[in-house]
Order: sequence, then structure tokens, then C-alpha cells
Amino acid sequence: MEDDRSTFGGRVGFVLAAAGSAVGLGNLWRFPYLAAQYGGGAFLLVYIALAITFGFVLMVTEIAIGRKTRLSPMEAFGALHKKWGWVGKLATIVPVLIFPYYCLIGGWVTKYTAVMAFGEAAQACSDTFFTDYISSAGEPLIWFLVFIGITALVIIFGVNRGIEKLSRFLMPALVVLTVVLAGYVVTRPGAAEGIRYYLLPNLKDLNVKTFLAALGQLFYSMSLAMGIMITYGSYFSKEEHIEKATRQIEIFDTMIAFLAGLMIIPAVFVFSNGDKGALGNGPSLMFETLPKVFNSMAGGSIIGTLFFFLVLFAALTSSVSIMEAIVSGLIDSFHVSRRKATILVLVYGIALGVVCSLGFGPLSSVRIFGFDILDFLDFVSNSVLLPIVGMLTCIVVGFVIRPQAIIDEVEINDRFKVKKFYTIMVKWIAPIFILVILITSVLQGLGWIVI
Ligand code: TRP
Repeated sequence: MEDDRSTFGGRVGFVLAAAGSAVGLGNLWRFPYLAAQYGGGAFLLVYIALAITFGFVLMVTEIAIGRKTRLSPMEAFGALHKKWGWVGKLATIVPVLIFPYYCLIGGWVTKYTAVMAFGEAAQACSDTFFTDYISSAGEPLIWFLVFIGITALVIIFGVNRGIEKLSRFLMPALVVLTVVLAGYVVTRPGAAEGIRYYLLPNLKDLNVKTFLAALGQLFYSMSLAMGIMITYGSYFSKEEHIEKATRQIEIFDTMIAFLAGLMIIPAVFVFSNGDKGALGNGPSLMFETLPKVFNSMAGGSIIGTLFFFLVLFAALTSSVSIMEAIVSGLIDSFHVSRRKATILVLVYGIALGVVCSLGFGPLSSVRIFGFDILDFLDFVSNSVLLPIVGMLTCIVVGFVIRPQAIIDEVEINDRFKVKKFYTIMVKWIAPIFILVILITSVLQGLGWIVI
């Protein structure tokens, strides 16, 4: 096939770009609170097992589909087989659902960067600071508008390249700072119990919910089953090895999530005066725990400011690529101008984001299947749509185009070492497993079975 798409500068460039987009709030904010909620070690174990198997298989598949077709996800599936084009369309719905609330959380991070910069870490340690903040009707909206506005500006002025260059310095800085903070937390008195909770799996925590949460988180964190890796793959050079690139992206992404957990989970044990209930706090965990860590450190406000600033940057690189995915999807399917598409997505994002934000305050009585609005969007996209698209992708590869088509694409330049494993996984184990997990959790959600 003619290579008329511009390609990344080799594998390192590709891995950095893909990992840079994959690393974001998923690793730093979402992974730690899910791990805390779902039993610590049990969640970590399931997550890593799924990353090595499902994550690997799906990422190889998506990068290969992208490189093979050289098309965006909207069209790539249709190019593989006429009847299956809708899978690509379904995949692009996920970024549409994620975008508004991703920017809302980006706004929370912006607020906390300001809180740290103004030396208010001590106030932020109070148990009600965060809930008071998100449940107010005015301020969170302003920070949300700031964050989503910057995201849109980056896209309108096409400064993505500049942001990518910056991220080559800022992402390593984020990794270093996370290691330092994790090191600080795990050496505090009382941390041992937290480390044990995070690293040692307790078999009683292994249940279907843990699997579904870990699977959704895996897809979310590695930007799988939503067309993103297909897009990246469509720019990947034919000279490079997909299998190696996949391993590197996965290791990088998992390492950052792991470190974020190591920083936040033991901190709950050290700084919450023995209140383990905080482990179940969900989305607020990072915002309630980290100020206490910074408040206890010498130079904590400077370190805290720097840390939240780097998280903000990681969130921004991700929100830019989520928005870009939607914008280019609109351009591809409706042939509107880039400017119009961007404004459209911005208006939509603001409308839904505002509703999500008010869901913690004036609209807090609105419950959808027991979820608040943000949690509901998060659940539908990550625990329902992502597994479904992941399963469909496996079915298309396993039974429509056949695994050999992907293996051939991977083997253009080198041997695909685990192709037998790949074939069995993609055809049988992955789709059946996902189906079983999905059905059991739906039945469980409806209260028809108890596990
Ligand atoms: N993977 C990103 C994270 O961990 C989040 C994300 C979801 C994303 N969908 C995306 C990033 C699409 C880029 C593009 O935070």
C-alpha cells in the first residue's frame, strides 16, 4: 500500500506520542481510586494480568488495523469489511461521552494547582473542602471553562506540536516527581499497612466487579476500544515493529498508574487518622489525599504546585487528543470545516460538562440507576461501551478478516513472537471472557443474581 500519510520519526517517536496521549487522568486520578475501592492488591493483580493479555492483544490489533488501512477509525472498520463499518462509529462515541467530564476533572485539577500555588494546602486538608468545592454552583464551572477553553484554543490554533514538544520535558518530570512522592509516602510511619493493602492481593476481593472495573480501566487508560490507537497506528511506519511498540507503551502506562497508586493509597493510611473508609471515596480520593501529603512536607506548597501543574499538563495533552478525535471524526463524516467542528464540540462539551458539574450541587438529586451524572457517563462509556467495542473488535478480527491478516501486518518487518497466543486470545478467550463479564455484571446490576 502507498505510504502517503506522514509517519512518526521511528518507533521511539511513536511510542512517546502514543504514551503521551495515553497517560493522563486515567493513570493519576482514576487508577488509584479504583484500586483503593476494589481491594487494592486484588485490583492491581487483575489489572496487570489483563494488561499483559487483553490489553496487549487489543493494542496490537488496533495499531495494526490503523497501519494496514491508513484510515481513521470512522472508516477503518468499513475498509476491513463493508458490513462492519459501524464498529468504528461506535468506537468514536466513547470520546464523545468522555470529553465533557474529562474536562470537568481537568477543571478540578486546575483549581487545585491554584490552591497549592496560593499556599492554601492547609485549608484543602479539611475533610469537607473538596465536597464543598464541587458542590458549589459557581466556581467549579469557571475552572471547567478555563480548562475546556484552553483545550479548544490548542486545537483552533493548531499548537498541538508545541504541546507535544513540551511534553517531552514535562512528562519525565511528572514521572520523577511521582517517584519522589511515592518514596516520601511509603517511608512515613503507618505506611506499611497501606503498602500491604495495595500490593498483597486478598482473594476475597476477587469478583466480577473487580474484573469489570479493571477491564474498563485498562481500556480507558490505554485509550483502547475507542479508535485512538487505530488513529495512531495509521501514522506508524511500516519499518517498525508493532509488538515491541505495544509492549513499551503498555509498560510505560502501567508503570505510571502503579506509581500513582503507590503514592495515593498508602497516603490514605498515613494521613487519614485511621479512617479506612476514605478508600471508598472514588473520584474525590486524589483531591482529598494529596493536599494532606503536601501539607506534611517541608516545601510542600512548592512541590504540590509543581505536582498539580504537571498533572494538569498531562490532563491537557489527553483532553486535546480526545477533542481532536471528535473534531476529526466530524470533519470526516460531515465535511464541515475544522473551525466549525471545533466550536460545535466546544459548545457540546460545555453544555454537558456544566450538567455534570451541577450534578454534585443543585442537581445532586438527579440519579441515574443510582449514579450521579458524572459517574453515570463514566460507567456507560468505560464499563459498558469500551468492553463492547473491545469484544466486537476481537470478533471482527477473529472471524471476519481473520487473525492472520493482523499477524501479516505485524510481521511486515519482524517475527510476531506470540502469534499463537494472539490467535487464541483474539478469537476465543478475549471475546468470550468479555461477554461473560458483561452479562454477569448487568444481571448483577439488575439485582437478578448475587455474587
Ligand atoms: N487514556 C487517557 C488517560 O489515561 C484518557 C483518554 C481516554 C484519552 N480517551 C482518550 C486520551 C482519547 C487521548 C485520547 O487519561
